[in-house]
Order: sequence, then structure tokens, then C-alpha cells
Amino acid sequence: MKPRVLVARAVFPDIVERLRSHFVVHDNPGDDAWSQPELIARLQGHAGVLVAGTERIDAALLAACPTLRAVCSMAVGYNNIDLPACTAAGVLVSNAPDVLTETTADFGFALMMATARRITESEHFLRAGRWTHWSYDLFAGADVHGATLGVLGMGRIGQAIARRGALGFGMPVLYHNRSRLDAAIEQQLGASWVGKDQLLQRADHLVIVVPYSPASHHLVGAAELALMKPTATLTNIARGGVVDDAALAVALRERRIAAAGLDVFEGEPAVHPGLLGVPNVVLTPHIASASLPTRRAMAELAARNLMAVLGQGADAGRPPTALNPEVLPLRA
Ligand code: GLV
Repeated sequence: MKPRVLVARAVFPDIVERLRSHFVVHDNPGDDAWSQPELIARLQGHAGVLVAGTERIDAALLAACPTLRAVCSMAVGYNNIDLPACTAAGVLVSNAPDVLTETTADFGFALMMATARRITESEHFLRAGRWTHWSYDLFAGADVHGATLGVLGMGRIGQAIARRGALGFGMPVLYHNRSRLDAAIEQQLGASWVGKDQLLQRADHLVIVVPYSPASHHLVGAAELALMKPTATLTNIARGGVVDDAALAVALRERRIAAAGLDVFEGEPAVHPGLLGVPNVVLTPHIASASLPTRRAMAELAARNLMAVLGQGADAGRPPTALNPEVLPLRA
């Protein structure tokens, strides 16, 4: 009998069809929002699940779903999944690294530029019919080229952003990360490691790309914002919760920093009302990886992992991007 798998979010229909040739598939074509009890109910009797960064896979769910053997996410960030609990339960977890790096870096750079050059704020002004005359300082913002780029979190996406800044825009690049890059990579990127306070003090444009974990919760809050230049911008494409959104809203309202670009929010899809109430912030709905080819590549990779974990297809037994390969071979 074919194993049963659940595709928890709507994804490309042809990918779901491909899964149907290996599995009995239950999916969510309408992309309905399932509550946690509903997700647990739907997972009963299933061996695998394809998720996005939105489904919470925790110890309680694992205990309630004893047939589950594979959790394959199409996101790169996996703070929605309790990895140690999955490992303890013998459940293989995979994510989707690499395939979204360049697309996400493109978006981070675009959001930083839109923030520095006040693109959405000026568009709202124009659409509202308020553009009546030229003025020397009409939406005058900050330069990007030649300004100091600060990257907080220097993994794959951080490095791709640094490369854009250094090679494309002549930006001196400073970064802070728990571990330093090899000197050769630093040299290639033209990037220098500095302490976190130095980074905050010296960056003209700070881009945040650290994964969320309890250790990175409110990594940038009121005290950190107070270190930044009043002319600086902050762009967050990491995860909601890395920045204290309430403190950021105050800093923006009081012009303690110039502007922010945010693709991720604490408690999203809700957005802190203080952020909605200030003009000097560019807001986007968690779409940094959302180019069609990249979203397809992410879903394909999750499907490949799912097939591999459950012994199907060319990679059977060898999921390409397992986060806890130590659970292989899987419990029967
Ligand atoms: C998006 O935020 C992801 O983690 O893939």
C-alpha cells in the first residue's frame, strides 16, 4: 500500500500530482488555515508532511501523530519545527536551503534600497494626488552606493547581500556573526567582522538576516536602536521576533533612525499598529523568496526530500537536505 502524506499548504498542483504517483496524498488546495487540532487530526495515519514555515511541529503534535516519519519544509528557516523533539521521536526533518539564497538576497537589497530612497512613501504621496510641484528636498533620502552596509547574520543570504553591496554598489561592508568567515571569503566579499555594537553604530544601512531562535529573540530592541545613526536604515528579512517591533515603531516615529524596511513581523500576519501608523517604513508580507522559479524550486526540494525519506524516487533513503540525518535509517 502506498504511504499517506499530507501537503499542508497549497503548492504547485503539478508537484502535488507527482507526489500522487508515489503516495496517497491529502492536500490543501484552498490553502485553508488549519488550527493546530485540525492539523493533528489531518495528520492521523500519515507518514509524511510537506509544510511551509507556518505550521508548528512540536512535541505535542509528534506525540499525537505516532505514524509521522518525515516533516519536509519548503522554507529555509525552521524555527516552526522543534528539531530536537523530532529527532527524539525518530522523525526526519528537512528544509530548503540554497535554492532561495539569491532570490532572497535580491529582495533584501531591493527592500533596503526602497527604504533608503523612500520609494513606497513617495508612491503613496503621488497616488493620493498630492504631487503639485518640484521641490529640492521632495522625498530626498539616503544614498546606497558608497554607504556602509551592515549585515547582521552572515550565512548564505547575508553573504549574497554583502556581495551585491560590495561589488555592485561600492559599499564598504561590515558584518557581525557568531562565527567569523574565513579570511579568504572576507576578502572576496570585501567584508570586515565587527562587534554587534560597532555594527549598529557604524552601518548606514543595516540588513538583518539571522535565523530566529530563543538566543536571537529581540536581538535588536530599544537599546540597540539607540546605538544607530539617526540617518541609518534598518531592513529585516530574517524572522519576526528578531527585532522588537514595538521599540522599532517608537524609534521610527521619533526619527531616532531614518527608516525601516520590514518583510517579517512578530506575530505575523498581524503587524504592530505602531508600524502601520508611521510613514517611514516599507512593509511587505513575508515575500523575500517569492519569485515564481524560486518558490517552485523550494516546493520541488521539499517534495524530493519527502520522497527520499519515505523510500521513493531517485534519492530513496538519501534526503538531499536533511537537518537531522542521524535519525536515518528511520524507525520502522
Ligand atoms: C522564508 O522565510 C524561509 O525561511 O524560507
